[in-house]
Amino acid sequence: DAGKGGYDHYMLKEIYEQPTALRQAIRGRSDPLEGRAELEELADDAFEGIESVHLVAMGTSYHAALYTQALLADRGIPAQAFLSGEYGSNPPPTDDRTLVVAVTQSGETADTLSAIRSVQGTGAHTLAVTNVVGSTVTRECEDTVYIRAGPEIGVAATKSFSSQVATLVLLSERLSHDIVGGTPRATADLLEALSVLPDDVQRILDESTAETVATEYHDSDSYFFIGRGVGHPVSLEGALKFKEITYDHAEGFSAAELKHGPLALVTEDTPVFAVFTGRDDTKTLHNVKEIRARGAPVVAVAAEGTDRIEEYADHVLDIPNTHPDVAGVLANVQLQLVSYLAANELSRPIDKPRNLAKSVTVE
Ligand code: G6P
Repeated sequence: DAGKGGYDHYMLKEIYEQPTALRQAIRGRSDPLEGRAELEELADDAFEGIESVHLVAMGTSYHAALYTQALLADRGIPAQAFLSGEYGSNPPPTDDRTLVVAVTQSGETADTLSAIRSVQGTGAHTLAVTNVVGSTVTRECEDTVYIRAGPEIGVAATKSFSSQVATLVLLSERLSHDIVGGTPRATADLLEALSVLPDDVQRILDESTAETVATEYHDSDSYFFIGRGVGHPVSLEGALKFKEITYDHAEGFSAAELKHGPLALVTEDTPVFAVFTGRDDTKTLHNVKEIRARGAPVVAVAAEGTDRIEEYADHVLDIPNTHPDVAGVLANVQLQLVSYLAANELSRPIDKPRNLAKSVTVE
């Protein structure tokens, strides 16, 4: 209990450690005035000749990888996230123009190590993005960038996701600069938003109304999470957290997919969480209207002042106004709180969910 620092669970402690973890992730790496991201571990020519990026990861780290895929695509860099457990058995072509990034909190996930081993000898450049100094992945990859989140004990990953995304935002800016020449003004805006992200997360932790949502809906058996762009991996992560610790059915998907199947399952008994990031919000609002028309309760996670959101959502979990590329981190913190509080009301063993391990070291 001493290690929990007064919190009931490691997970809650780690949720509250996110402002500190984020400050550590970005410290010394971001220069908003110059519009430049600096990852001190990487040589100046680390990405020379790189034209495309593969990201390999599992679980929550896979959601950070999908988030990065969206960021890189937006910067005109061909990028694809893969479940590392699938990558090695059906390897896509790689050569010396490919950067393969292993995203892994522990640095020990067998599937991810195996994915990295599968490209050795193809000429691909390998980079580990990890939390654990000296972990196996750091020895298998040519380069390593640390997320500097500090130890994470709760099986359900929380602060490591936020720190991964912050670090991968920096990596995306560095790749954008090196591969397509970047746009310093756009980079400066994003780095500015990144620099206040720890304070924005703190505001959510201080002011969240997630408790009301958890109390009202924790008796439902099924939950859906939707979002677009970086809001899509955030909805996948929201659903993963929810199922891991509440043991209820939860499913995340792109809001764009709603009409192509999932809508058939939406009823007045299935609360739907809708993530708004400030990009394509009008389309997501349209989905929310469709959901409301089926009688399902809607919880919107959205920036204050998002157009007409109060009209269509039963609850709004506010996030501070920010750059859409980092809004997903803020939305995810609200969803972490809902999952934690719902699981707590259901008296689940939050830090050690049944059948799950912090690090899966067998394939
Ligand atoms: C397990 C954990 C997850 C984690 C995943 C990948 O499934 O329960 O929380 O996201 O492994 O772990 P890694 O250490 O590679 O990020």
